[in-house]
Amino acid sequence: MHFALPPRKTSHPPPYVRNRNLNTATSQRRRKQIQIGAYLVLGILTLYLVARFALSLGLTGGHDDGATAIEGPQDIVIVTVFDNDTMSEDYMWIVKTNRDDYARRHGYRNFYANTTAYFDLVDPSPLSWSMIPALRHALTEFGSSTFFWSLSADAFITNPSVSLESHVLQPLESLMLKDIPVVPPDSVIHTFSHLKPSRTHLILSQDMDNLAHTSFILRNTPFSTKTPDNWAHYFLDAWFDPLYRAYAFQKAENHALEHLVQWHPTVLAKLVLIEQRWINSYNYATPPSKDPLTGLTRTHDSMWQEGDLVVNLKGCRETGKRDCEDEMRYYFTKWEKEVERLDGKKPEHQVGPPKPKVIKEEKKKSGKVESARL
Ligand SMILES: *[C@@H]1O[C@H](CO)[C@@H](O)[C@H](O)[C@H]1NC(C)=O
Ligand SMILES: *[C@@H]1O[C@H](CO)[C@@H](O)[C@H](O)[C@H]1NC(C)=O
Repeated sequence: MHFALPPRKTSHPPPYVRNRNLNTATSQRRRKQIQIGAYLVLGILTLYLVARFALSLGLTGGHDDGATAIEGPQDIVIVTVFDNDTMSEDYMWIVKTNRDDYARRHGYRNFYANTTAYFDLVDPSPLSWSMIPALRHALTEFGSSTFFWSLSADAFITNPSVSLESHVLQPLESLMLKDIPVVPPDSVIHTFSHLKPSRTHLILSQDMDNLAHTSFILRNTPFSTKTPDNWAHYFLDAWFDPLYRAYAFQKAENHALEHLVQWHPTVLAKLVLIEQRWINSYNYATPPSKDPLTGLTRTHDSMWQEGDLVVNLKGCRETGKRDCEDEMRYYFTKWEKEVERLDGKKPEHQVGPPKPKVIKEEKKKSGKVESARL
């Protein structure tokens, strides 16, 4: 999956040839003088640079970012990309209602998009790549916002009263997983052990097999004369590189991201990993599997529990065995009760009852659609 290091250029410098004509006493003396002069100039230059560096440290307190923690309320945008060809109106309505409510509670904003809008950019790669141009689109539309939460359309916010600032951003120092393999289970590349939250630009978690990129937080640097560079733009452009899209990674943009964080220190240096359940709990139980390398049995430890911020229905579309909408409605009902507890009234009800299941003629994919309750 990942490339080996490119071969280094072999260099065979030509053997040094000594010019015999110079080998006289006077020319040797002149060479000595030139050498001493050069050392003197180098010495002065070094002293000057050291002094300048020390001075700049003294003036800025050791780093350029000011405080080490991410403090105070932030301008946050939640980015959602619907696959409106396959998702039902009811399903999208549930997701929107949930996110609109969450945004209203905490003063955030929502950016909704459909995969179809980015088809021309992404084709012929898998449409799941759409999340990247959608994020870029959101960064353009909300250029002065400071954090962008990219959250899969198959996820649902289950704890509406918890803000991203109090849950993730402010306590980041205590949440960050330091010096662990950046890609599970055993990448030789580890996360930094000395990264300041104020220098963090990407907050992610891992599931058992991969970087869990279905929920992550990207920091934006609003443009000013002091901050003309925007790391978020760089990161998204690097991730969306045509070479990666053409490479046909098995898990498309997910594997491209894993390649990126392992091979580009500029990305690793801005990345913080936190526990999966903090922003991306799953709701299905994958059977424990044996690690081929260590022989240890690994289990998912990221199942959704009462009080978690998010439940992610990841994988609900991958086989005919699960039904995203059924699962979503289960959490929607729980969430309505929680909203009622918080506000004293239920959210307005616009979602119809579950549609009765019929055997779908047009989607008989390998005969897996179950002839369920009629
Ligand atoms: C999906 O959304 C796009 C606009 O974003 C629209 O043009 C298209 O008709 C929609 N497709 C369906 C099946 O509703
Ligand atoms: C996405 O598609 C849905 C239905 O297909 C449509 O109602 C909605 O306006 C579209 N959203 C955007 C941002 O185009």
